[in-house]
Amino acid sequence: MKYNPVTNKIIAKLVKIVDSKNVLTDKEKIEAYSHDEMPREQYAHMPEAVVTPETAEEIAEIVKLANKELIPVTPRGAGSGLSGGAIPVFGGIVISVEKMNKILEIDYENMVMVLEPGVVTNDVNELIAERNLFYAGYPMSLETCFIGGNVAENAGGGKAIKYGVTGRYILGLEIVTPAGEIIQLGGKLVKDVVGYNIKQLIVGSEGTLGIVTKVIVKLSPLPKYKVDLLVLFKDVKSAISMVPQILTKTGITPTSIEFMDKLSVQTSCRYLNEHLPYQKAGAMLLIEVDGNREDHVSDDAETIGELCLKNGAIEVYVADNYTTQERIWSVRRNIAEAFKVVSPHQSLEDIVVPIACIPDLMPELALISKKYDIQIPCYGHAGDGNLHATLVKNPRSTMKEWYEIEAKSLKELYESARELGGTISGEHGIGSKRKDFMEIAVSKNELDLMRRIKKAFDPNDIMNPGKIFDME
Ligand code: LAC
Ligand code: ZN
Repeated sequence: MKYNPVTNKIIAKLVKIVDSKNVLTDKEKIEAYSHDEMPREQYAHMPEAVVTPETAEEIAEIVKLANKELIPVTPRGAGSGLSGGAIPVFGGIVISVEKMNKILEIDYENMVMVLEPGVVTNDVNELIAERNLFYAGYPMSLETCFIGGNVAENAGGGKAIKYGVTGRYILGLEIVTPAGEIIQLGGKLVKDVVGYNIKQLIVGSEGTLGIVTKVIVKLSPLPKYKVDLLVLFKDVKSAISMVPQILTKTGITPTSIEFMDKLSVQTSCRYLNEHLPYQKAGAMLLIEVDGNREDHVSDDAETIGELCLKNGAIEVYVADNYTTQERIWSVRRNIAEAFKVVSPHQSLEDIVVPIACIPDLMPELALISKKYDIQIPCYGHAGDGNLHATLVKNPRSTMKEWYEIEAKSLKELYESARELGGTISGEHGIGSKRKDFMEIAVSKNELDLMRRIKKAFDPNDIMNPGKIFDME
């Protein structure tokens, strides 16, 4: 092993940098930092120490120390990730930004907000809603995830059709590099073409190129009206085949087109003790439109609803008030959590294909399901071609059998996405989970270029090693 252990001497140095209250070594306390939201034992790994610094300067000192002593450092946000990005696979030091949770500035003149990385994403919107502003990133974990983690993963979510993903709203960053320098990237600027766009290289780099210590996000005017349609279809095929039609035939850019198959809705409803009319439907679409003119928004909703009814929808429910909309969206946001509770042994995927190919993806899922005798419930951001196919362990298989089936079926799933012009992850990232499948997704030349970039940032490979790809 090329890394050195975190000795008592190192702990003493960490205590000197951040104070003893911010250094955890007790097994019971650090266990929580050994996993993210994926099933535990399969991907988990214990850190040797967890530090909870309060400033960028402290992080810089810790990283300098780790770089000098060849100790791996794993940056961590809320731990809500789904690819092992925040898991310290080689042990070492976890740097959790949980105490860096201040809103540093709300700049209404420039429509930006300056945040520490540990701010909970949803808190941003709660603060600015009364000024009719919002931050347009909308990951499904927004009630718990941190903005710093959203940047590291370039989080997607439920509003990407109209508003795009996290990177679009990141105007500036402060980072600590793997050498321990503090660097400012971008600022409150909408345009900036000076040199390489390192800021956007950091976005989505999964904590392998540095630690985000400050984030400048762009705010948008909050649309005055929104309408949600819950559209019921008899089966998966008829629901999914509507998606490209809505996007290309209506002249409307909806905010969201989310897909949920029957099992997904049912599982989430049971988990939340909620009731949606899923009994007679094999699948549903949750479609949102928003805007500033009430009549325009309801016209758009009507156009989409009518198109669905003409093409085989069983029923269209309209939700035009906050309470009903929140009830439906809560069912959607909680599907992943509900499945985790029901079946702890599963693989939650986020393959993505060009929108016109989503209907072709569904038969591929059916084939894999049949071949390996596993259930593959499916939901997700259909309007982005981004679906959460969830491979669930058959209760009859042993764990050993399941691990084999999981590896084989994942490979087939990823190859199917690739053949349709898609790729293996649209929003959850590669982390440690999908590292071995990188060659399905990118060419050898591209992978080599990524390794050279990593080397330029982090010659000693101490910053979140074992993620995205291995260096050797
Ligand atoms: C969702 C998460 C799993 O969309 O990405 O629910
Ligand atoms: Zn998602």
